[in-house]
Amino acid sequence: MTKEQDRLLGESPAILRVLEEVSQVAPLEKPVLIVGERGTGKELIASRVHFLSNRWEGQFLKMNCAAISETLLETELFGHEAGAFTGASKTHHGRFERADGGTLFLDEVANTSPLVQEKLLRVIEYGEYERVGGNRTLTCDVRLVAATNEDLPTLAEQGRFRYDLLDRLAFDVITLPPLRAREEDILLLGEHFAITMANELGREYFPGFSADAREALQAYPWPGNVRELKNVVERAVYRNPFETPVDDITFDPFESPFRPSGDLGPAGTGASEPRRETDAAEPTSSVPEQRLPTDLKAEVQAFEIAMIEQAMTSARHNQRKAAALLGLTYHQLRGYLKKYELLKREAD
Ligand SMILES: Nc1ncnc2c1ncn2[C@@H]1O[C@H](COP(=O)(O)OP(=O)(O)OP(=O)(O)O)[C@@H](O)[C@H]1O
Ligand SMILES: [Mg+2]
Repeated sequence: MTKEQDRLLGESPAILRVLEEVSQVAPLEKPVLIVGERGTGKELIASRVHFLSNRWEGQFLKMNCAAISETLLETELFGHEAGAFTGASKTHHGRFERADGGTLFLDEVANTSPLVQEKLLRVIEYGEYERVGGNRTLTCDVRLVAATNEDLPTLAEQGRFRYDLLDRLAFDVITLPPLRAREEDILLLGEHFAITMANELGREYFPGFSADAREALQAYPWPGNVRELKNVVERAVYRNPFETPVDDITFDPFESPFRPSGDLGPAGTGASEPRRETDAAEPTSSVPEQRLPTDLKAEVQAFEIAMIEQAMTSARHNQRKAAALLGLTYHQLRGYLKKYELLKREAD
């Protein structure tokens, strides 16, 4: 967790506010709930809560509540007695037992079943629980940090999450801003990931991003947040020739003229245009009867503008889809949009 590459970076006002909240809440013995879209850094923040608390020398254990079945989650959290079920030959010490004196991070806590929620409620309230298959009550001193990318109050309203558990878990709620709300951090993080990647590849240095690449990184909405940024940057670095600045940014690794169709048809209708790739692979070569002399460059530009506008309309102005329709990378399309000032035209 404290590996150099897991350092938490950021200098946007939004992330600085979060770090301030974390420093305030960390020393308290209360549960903390961390909310944020996927890839926003919830796990990093959870470990920061632990390492800034008085429990920092104790255990920091994790449990992903979404990854396993209800029964397995119960035994992983609370342990089981020998003979609790077929195959349970030895006593199993659960996370609560092993995290005693430390912090337990419950990731994706929205995915817990009513039974587990009930046991969690009791262990938070009284520090008490029983191992599965046992009736001896055990006590523990564990601080809980939970994370979710769902809206727990809504789940509680729908009867899918206990209100009383929510109240106790959410002594304080730290909401992580998505990456698109912290523009200042995009290049800071991007360069950090790029340098780390260049290092891993045994390259002596990272030659930087080109101006276009920087612009593309900042214009992208980052639905997958910091994790997506890390992937995109690492891919761009390893594909890039050694010493020239990184210029080609591929946001969608599935992007290819040979991608199976299905969701890239006009306005996402997919199947309505089954022959799309064939069409794209065979550009029209017939030239209309031309009156010469002409201005070839102007003709070509007019044609490019018309095609791009058509693609943008078909893709409902989703630039990634439009790029796919034109057989361009997102980055190349951005280049054209800028060159012909089509973004400005779109705005008015
Ligand atoms: N502020 C940051 N500084 C440096 N690295 C970060 C930062 N935020 C996130 N990361 C990195 O981004 C990746 C995703 O972060 P993390 O796993 O903490 O996100 P998450 O919110 O738990 O995601 P998920 O909801 O998908 O589990 C990790 O590799 C993490 O190290
Ligand atoms: Mg996570």
